[in-house]
Amino acid sequence: MLRDFGLGDEDQAAWERSGLPPEAFEDWLTDRLARRPAGARAREVYGADDVHDFARRAILAALALEPHDRLLEIGCGGGLLLRDALASGAAVTGLDHSEEMVRLARERAAGADLVLGDAASLPFPDASFTAVAMSIVFMFLPDPDAVLRECRRVLSAGGRVAIYTTGPELRGTPAAPKPLASRSRFYGDDELAELARRSGLSDVVVTNDGGGQLLTGNA
Ligand SMILES: C[S@@+](CC[C@H](N)C(=O)[O-])C[C@H]1O[C@@H](n2cnc3c(N)ncnc32)[C@H](O)[C@@H]1O
Repeated sequence: MLRDFGLGDEDQAAWERSGLPPEAFEDWLTDRLARRPAGARAREVYGADDVHDFARRAILAALALEPHDRLLEIGCGGGLLLRDALASGAAVTGLDHSEEMVRLARERAAGADLVLGDAASLPFPDASFTAVAMSIVFMFLPDPDAVLRECRRVLSAGGRVAIYTTGPELRGTPAAPKPLASRSRFYGDDELAELARRSGLSDVVVTNDGGGQLLTGNA
């Protein structure tokens, strides 16, 4: 199964070193590929310009960053959204719980602040940012309510959120293949909007382009 996902000997060795039982393999694989990426293939994928470029573009268009903005990207992966956001003149911070992704983002987005941390417990004071972004992360969050409340908390009044995620219609397709799909959470458009409203966000809108969902809202 490793080869099906473009993984190789380094990954096989990492699995063997993990000492995990065979029944933990699909969870380990989900982490290594996407939920907490690690290894040479992860660095290659998340450092590549064409990976998730559709999500990056949709988020940046929705946020329309200006030089006075302070952006936080949660689950920043290889830092390409951060890199593109820096071109707006905004102050840019990325957070990820994968040490390898934080290191890669430091290389790709020189000028951004990079922080190792968890989405559900953001290490920032209230009202630290004017914009929050998440690209292809939401599906992996075990407690989306907690994360959305954290997004709301770290935003200043009037701050904006833009979250791009994968809708249920893409479950099991190349956009969300097995075994990742069975370890991911998919929300209908209305359900996603309701989650955001419950966290205290206003002006919530979910648009859906062929299963790619963009959630926007304001603090
Ligand atoms: C599929 S990758 C997407 C990376 C990047 N945003 C992109 O669009 O290419 C998901 C990223 O979210 C991070 N992530 C997932 N859950 C997280 C959490 N609870 N806290 C912080 N980062 C998280 C992963 O480590 C990974 O870098």
